[in-house]
Amino acid sequence: MTASVSVPAPVPVPWRQVLAQVSGLIRSERKLLLGAGGLILVNRGAALGPAAASKIVIDGVVGSHRPDLLAPVALGLVAAVAVEAASGFAIYRAVGIVSQRAVTRVRGELHAHVLGLPAGDFDSMSGGCLLSRLMSDPDALRDVLGPGLVQLASGALTALLAVALLLALDWTLTAAVLGILAASLAALVLGLSRVYGAFHATAEISAELTGRLVETIGGIDAVKTARAERREAYSFACTSHRLLRAFVRAFSGVGGVIALSALATGLVTATVLLLGGRAALAGRLTLGDLVLYLLLAGLLASPLLQIAAHVAELGRAGVALARIAQVRAIATEDDRDRGLASIARVTGAVAFDRLSYAYMPGRWALRDVSFEAGPGATVALVGLNGSGKTTAMRLIGGLLRPTAGRVLIDGRDLADVRLRSWRAHVAAVWQEPFLFDVTIADNIAYGRPRASRAEIRRAGLLAHCEEFVGLLPGGYDTRVGERGARLSGGQRQR
Ligand SMILES: Nc1ncnc2c1ncn2[C@@H]1O[C@H](COP(=O)(O)OP(=O)(O)OP(=O)(O)O)[C@@H](O)[C@H]1O
Ligand SMILES: [Mg+2]
Repeated sequence: MTASVSVPAPVPVPWRQVLAQVSGLIRSERKLLLGAGGLILVNRGAALGPAAASKIVIDGVVGSHRPDLLAPVALGLVAAVAVEAASGFAIYRAVGIVSQRAVTRVRGELHAHVLGLPAGDFDSMSGGCLLSRLMSDPDALRDVLGPGLVQLASGALTALLAVALLLALDWTLTAAVLGILAASLAALVLGLSRVYGAFHATAEISAELTGRLVETIGGIDAVKTARAERREAYSFACTSHRLLRAFVRAFSGVGGVIALSALATGLVTATVLLLGGRAALAGRLTLGDLVLYLLLAGLLASPLLQIAAHVAELGRAGVALARIAQVRAIATEDDRDRGLASIARVTGAVAFDRLSYAYMPGRWALRDVSFEAGPGATVALVGLNGSGKTTAMRLIGGLLRPTAGRVLIDGRDLADVRLRSWRAHVAAVWQEPFLFDVTIADNIAYGRPRASRAEIRRAGLLAHCEEFVGLLPGGYDTRVGERGARLSGGQRQR
């Protein structure tokens, strides 16, 4: 039975696939990422320069009356800042490349996957939904894989360096600071999960909006004839406002997370001031140590601020990864036909053997149909609207698999054959002709891109296209417009 999988329905997110996708992306870019990681290490080390210089100036220069040290310290600081700037430039460039390459790859793979899905699966998916999954979702990964990733990684690294130094300075004080940070981090993760939910809603509504827009523009004649412009505008405005409200909810969540992290940073500074001030008064810390401590505590809290600053991007990227994984979890035709044989030669005997087909369980489009058509025979299927003629053609064309019974080609059951290999022997003109916005010649040769001009003209002659193609300014090289809009209905059908 052909499984019809509806994407917009609540398909559970295959989180294992999400993880596999992320690790695949990281693995494929590991060289650049490792390089960037090394540079981040250098960059963060250099970023400790100002804190170190402050301590040296306070304790080593002012405290110990060593004016001769002042110039070398300043020079050292300039060198550290130069290293920070140069490595920062290299990091952003590397990560920019990584992120855009990842977007390109994810989108390419997703596109190939979507085109590989069985034709029957497309019946239950909306074009807008697929469009947004292909275009917007991969884009949402860019920010988080790019600068976002660098800032998170470097923030985390700075925090680790700062913890090591803080522990060496005064571990009781550090324990208190870490406690506050851990509590804030837990709250942050909770906030993030709420932001994820809100962004999920925005992605769904946005897909709905795109879908309707594509339909309205495609059916502009129908819209205008029904004088439905205002109704369409109203419905567009309603969905847009739903999107707006979903975004407001999402950004309220983001705002909350940012506020929380600012609060945590403030709490850390206050704790250090309080406990560190006492320790300095009691003579357990020098003045330089206290300043160093304050600066390091600020660096320790920085990842919190950085996660908060990127929380919107993180939320959106999480949603995008989940939505992409949902589509990738649907088996393609090749996945389903794996292990089946190809069909190389055909004489053309077509038969249905007690065949039934239902698009939806229990609603039969064809029921228990049997017939035989010999090679070269001209056969007409006649029946009422909705009696299943097109469905029968889709089954013969290898676009659908029967719910029950068999399609036989030269006596061979199509169920044992790769559908893609069978379609190499099929040519079809469908009830609703579809043309691409390319030239007439390219449309004729769409099924055989290497066809010669003579072959194209012969096909045109056989389909009685010559009479109107001759009148067009560009002949066979005339572009036909989207869906063949610049041709008449009858011209399109030929
Ligand atoms: N993609 C689909 N999803 C669900 N049901 C479908 C789908 N396509 C067709 N049907 C249903 O299956 C039945 C057969 O449709 P089919 O298109 O094969 O009829 P037809 O004989 O070609 O009709 P017509 O003469 O109008 O072209 C109809 O009841 C139709 O509503
Ligand atoms: Mg039909």
